[in-house]
Amino acid sequence: MIVLGIETSCDETATAIVRDDRTILAEAVLSQIEAHAPYGGVVPEIAARAHLDNLDGLIARVLEAAGVGFADLDGVAATAGPGLIGGLLVGSTMGKAIAMVHDKPFVAANHLEGHALTARLTDGVDFPYLLLLVSGGHCQFVSVEDVGRYRRLGATIDDAVGEAFDKTAKMVGLGYPGGPQVEAAARTGDPRRFDLPRPMRGRPGCDFSFSGLKTAVRRRIEALPGGRPSPQDVADLCASFQAAVADSLADRCRNALAMFREAHPQGGPLVVAGGVAANAHLRERLAAVAARSGTPLIAPPLRLCTDNAVMVAWAGVERLRLGLHDGLDFAPVPRWPLDSLGGA
Ligand code: KG4
Ligand code: ZN
Repeated sequence: MIVLGIETSCDETATAIVRDDRTILAEAVLSQIEAHAPYGGVVPEIAARAHLDNLDGLIARVLEAAGVGFADLDGVAATAGPGLIGGLLVGSTMGKAIAMVHDKPFVAANHLEGHALTARLTDGVDFPYLLLLVSGGHCQFVSVEDVGRYRRLGATIDDAVGEAFDKTAKMVGLGYPGGPQVEAAARTGDPRRFDLPRPMRGRPGCDFSFSGLKTAVRRRIEALPGGRPSPQDVADLCASFQAAVADSLADRCRNALAMFREAHPQGGPLVVAGGVAANAHLRERLAAVAARSGTPLIAPPLRLCTDNAVMVAWAGVERLRLGLHDGLDFAPVPRWPLDSLGGA
C-alpha cells in the first residue's frame, strides 16, 4: 500500500510518500520561517498563500523522487485539522482533488494523530504507549491505545511549552522560532542565577501551565539594571528558564507514567513528539524519569518530531488498512482534539 501525505496545518508545507511496510519512499518539507520571522510568529494569511504557491511543486517532487505516479497510489491523506483554517483548506482541497480525479480513497488526517502514530512507523512500537506531545501549539500526555483510540491524561491549562520558549526568546531579544535559540543561549548560562517557579510541581495529575513562568521571566528582566538584559543575563535567563521547564516536565511526566501504568499494568514505552522534543536537555531529563520507572523512551528522528507529511501519510496507511477513509465532503476543522476521533 502506497499513500501520499499532505501537511499544511501551520507554517510547513510538506508532502511525503510512505509504504505500509514502514518505508518512506520520499519526503519534502518547505519551511516558511523566513516569511513569518519579521512578525515574530506565524501570520495565517501569509501561511495559506505560501502553501498555495508551493504545494503543487512539492507533490510533483515526491512523486518523482519515489518513482511513482498518481495511478500507483492506494490513497491520499491530507491534514484536515487541527490548525490554521486557510492552510487546512489548501491542503485538504488538494488532497480531495487528487483522490477524486484518480479515484483513490481520501483520508482527512488529524495532525495530532500523525504525531501520535509516528513512532509506529519509525520504531515499530505496539499499542499501548504513553505519548508526550510538546510543540508550539500543543502540550499534552496521551495514552495511545489503538488507531483512533486516544485518552488524554493531561494538557496545558494555558500556553503550550513551545509557545513559552518562543515568548521567552522574544522577551530577551532572541529571534523566532525561539526554542533552538533559547537552548543555544542556555549552554553558556547559569541555570541557578534566576529563581523561577516550577509550574504545577507537586500537584496531582499531569496538566501543565506555563504562563506564570513566562510572567516570572518578564519580571526578572524588568528588575535588571535599565530593564535590559546583557548577553550574560540572556544566557542566564535562558538557562534558568530551561531548567524550570525541565523540572516541571519531569514532575508531570512522573505522574503521567504512574497514571498510564495504572491503566496498563503491562506497560509500554514513553514516546515524545513535537518540536520541543528537539531540546537535548529536556530529552535527557525525560529519559532519566522514564528510566527510573523502567520505561524505554522513544524519540523519533527530529525531522519526524516536528511538522512533516510522513506522519500524515503514515496516519493514512494506518487508517486505510483498517478500511477507514473519509468522504470528499469532509470539512477541515481548526479545533479537533485527539480524544474525539474514532477508529475501527
Ligand atoms: O512541532 P513544531 O515544529 O510545530 C508545531 O508547533 O506544531 O514545534 C515548533 C515549536 C516552536 O515553539 C519551537 O520554539 C519549539 O518547537 N522548539 C524548541 C526547540 N526546537 C523547536 N523548543 C525548545 N528547544 C528546542 N531545541
Ligand atoms: Zn505539529
